[in-house]
Amino acid sequence: MKILIIGSGGREHALVWKIKQSPLVDEVFCIPGNGGIAQVAECVSIDQSDFEALVEFAQDKSIDLTVVGPEVPLVDGIVDVFDKKGLKVFGPSSEAARLEGSKSFAKEIMKKYGVPTGGASLFDNYAEAVSYLEGLKPPYVIKADGLAAGKGVFIAKTLEEAKAAVKSCLVDKQFGLAGELILIEECLEGPELSILAFSDGKDVLPMVPAQDYKRAYDNDEGLNTGGMGSYSPVPIVTPSLYTDIVKTILEPMITGLASEGIEYKGVIYAGLMITEDGPKVLEFNVRFGDPETQAIIPRLKSDIIEPMLACVEGDLSEVKLDWTEEPCVTVVLASGGYPGDYNTGYEIKGLDEVSVMDGVTVFHAGTKLKDRKIVTSGGRVLNVSALGKDFAQARDRAYAAIDKIHFEDMHYRKDIALRAIKTGGKV
Ligand code: AMP
Ligand code: GLY
Repeated sequence: MKILIIGSGGREHALVWKIKQSPLVDEVFCIPGNGGIAQVAECVSIDQSDFEALVEFAQDKSIDLTVVGPEVPLVDGIVDVFDKKGLKVFGPSSEAARLEGSKSFAKEIMKKYGVPTGGASLFDNYAEAVSYLEGLKPPYVIKADGLAAGKGVFIAKTLEEAKAAVKSCLVDKQFGLAGELILIEECLEGPELSILAFSDGKDVLPMVPAQDYKRAYDNDEGLNTGGMGSYSPVPIVTPSLYTDIVKTILEPMITGLASEGIEYKGVIYAGLMITEDGPKVLEFNVRFGDPETQAIIPRLKSDIIEPMLACVEGDLSEVKLDWTEEPCVTVVLASGGYPGDYNTGYEIKGLDEVSVMDGVTVFHAGTKLKDRKIVTSGGRVLNVSALGKDFAQARDRAYAAIDKIHFEDMHYRKDIALRAIKTGGKV
């Protein structure tokens, strides 16, 4: 088979890496890819939003399956366009992708089908939103309804901050159309985790749980980022909690959407908080998580193309996933200054040495090939993933690899997966 992957991050490198291992696969293409992906697949520079050009490429190369990484093309309807042309594509339709594209739509479905989540009220008027806020106690949770590249969620400690967040959405229109409707949500408390599952629109096939780290610095300080690290599994997820999440959250979402006439195919990602009243949904994403995927995929022993094809073809019920018991720890190496301003174009050294280390895989994100050298080209540069017999070994391997990697101003968190060791460690 010939496979095309759309995207350019660490998530897509992990998918390309795994897809390449499938006995079903002969050739892998990536649009646009990055410096690491270019070493294992043919990268082609086409605008990800130009669906007609992507279709033309897929037809030209006789691509058998296209896998879409990021949410924006999914929400914008890439799957609908490929479907119309009879091209196989892994991911939800634009209608199903509203689960991520509109937080109010996701709430509506959760409410209708009894899926546990925080209560929320909707506002498009500044004065009404502020008067509602005045009746609440801090902290306040304010979310832009639409896609805002991870920047549309505000947890405000004071009323002043909350009002400023509402103003930035409804008055200043910082997020354009995506922020013209906001949710003011009940503030939940508890540990967070992510569970991703394959779905063919009828059945769900859950993956192992993962934990990501959103803040830039150790001890969850600093600004929110696209993700600074992850690990899998998550020791607080007992078998009964896992079953509870599948039965009360993932399955009812898919069957609920189906009874609305929406067939959800692809990966459904539930961002959860484990509250005193049990697991509740913070958000849904309609794709693989980044950097969760970089900690989940190395643990998958079975083929990845089989469940992907089964999602597309609607026969997922027969598919099983086989996972290694070994935990995986992923540390993101970022450009100094990220998520604020940073410089790029620095040469990355040490990758050859790391490539032979036991259990270690480096997935590239913001890198490119320049004069036969790998140089930095983005905020999040590399993901160093390591498997180990336990969390301590996986962590040691990841950080030992990082010691050998160097680029100017390199920044990373030193506390990734420490929590997993403290909360039990054993898988
Ligand atoms: P989201 O993009 O919706 O996952 O939100 C980003 C982050 O904001 C989450 O990872 C949580 O840490 C926090 N958050 C979102 N919703 C809530 C909520 N209802 N209560 C408390 N924290 C929240
Ligand atoms: N790790 C969060 C996300 O992929 O949206």
